Amino acid sequence: MHNIIPITEDLYYVGGSDRRLSLFENVYPVPRGVSYNSYLLLDEKTVLFDTVDPSVADLYLENVAAALGGRKLDYLVVHHMEPDHSATFLRLVKSYPEATIVTSAKAAQMMKNFFPFDGANVKIVKEGDVLSSGKHSFTFVAAPMVHWPEVLFSFDTATGTLFSADAFGTFGALGGSIFADEVNFKEEFLSDARRYYFNIVGKYGIQVQSVLKKAAGLDIKTICPLHGPIWRKDLGYYLGLYDTWSKYEPEEKGAVVFYGTIHGHTGNAAEILATSIAQSGAPVKVYDVSQTELSQLVAEAFRYSHLAFVSATYNNGIFLPMEQLLQDLAAHNFQNRKYALVENGSWSPQAGTLMKNLIGEWKNMTQIGEKVTLLSSVKEEQAEELRALAAQLAADILSE
Ligand code: FEO
Repeated sequence: MHNIIPITEDLYYVGGSDRRLSLFENVYPVPRGVSYNSYLLLDEKTVLFDTVDPSVADLYLENVAAALGGRKLDYLVVHHMEPDHSATFLRLVKSYPEATIVTSAKAAQMMKNFFPFDGANVKIVKEGDVLSSGKHSFTFVAAPMVHWPEVLFSFDTATGTLFSADAFGTFGALGGSIFADEVNFKEEFLSDARRYYFNIVGKYGIQVQSVLKKAAGLDIKTICPLHGPIWRKDLGYYLGLYDTWSKYEPEEKGAVVFYGTIHGHTGNAAEILATSIAQSGAPVKVYDVSQTELSQLVAEAFRYSHLAFVSATYNNGIFLPMEQLLQDLAAHNFQNRKYALVENGSWSPQAGTLMKNLIGEWKNMTQIGEKVTLLSSVKEEQAEELRALAAQLAADILSE
């Protein structure tokens, strides 16, 4: 049965949420589910914005048909061709063969790459082009690499509604309300929004900054993303977070201690370090990299101003879960932070040097203090070194 949700007098939510998916993009856990948003405008012409993931396709097609109420579909605007939005494209087109598909040139090519589709009824648009549906008119904004190269935003100049593709999206199913101002966003969604941003879009900060500059020239009153709640109040809060995130600036002053331990001694060092940071008055969090899922670790690394990487040496290298974290951070252009290093090894400790070599390739990373080296376990001498390192980290955090 259809489940259409009105947004304004002529704009309707026709997407749906999947709470059964375990891994988004077959890699990111989504225990709170995920929504695939699509919007239908009933103006003098009817305009459908994007299709959806196959998991909600039946509901979506019922929603579209019911919302159209027998009217024909005039336009399908495709902002993004990643299959979580486009996998039902062909089903939709076969249901509404008269619809004109409005999209970017790159997306039009992707349609042919993904589907047995001849490109009929496609109208190519580029930045600055305008599509009128009657009372509404839509200006297109190019948003390459946010998060694929073909991405377009569209902006309804009549209502100030920005259809922002993946940008401003978040993991987390929509439950009842579809509006950010009707849920406790900071409590329920912020952690997932941060994890979504840094893991999905975080590599492309420069491109996000470019599109935020374009957005600053628009009088935006509502943001309709392809995932998560719709923003119609307090837009400055979320735009501000995106600005901070995409500049690779920390969201919070504080330390996050990541440790990779085999038998517990390296973890003991991490706890001593974190305790001393806290006793010096600075905020601190601790994660065992073997126990916390990688996308959460990545998001937490981006969140804080200072990081400590505390790792055992393993097979003459960095303990693998720690190496995976560092490689994942590098893949997301991690930069612009202060960091400290602690290594452990029972006969040839070298994780610290290897971690420093990796981090040395990242932009604007500043080491605080000297690397602390343990031989198998923490002795009083190393505990003193850890406390001294913690004092340096805390002083630097509190001085900023
Ligand atoms: Fe939600 Fe890049 O797809």
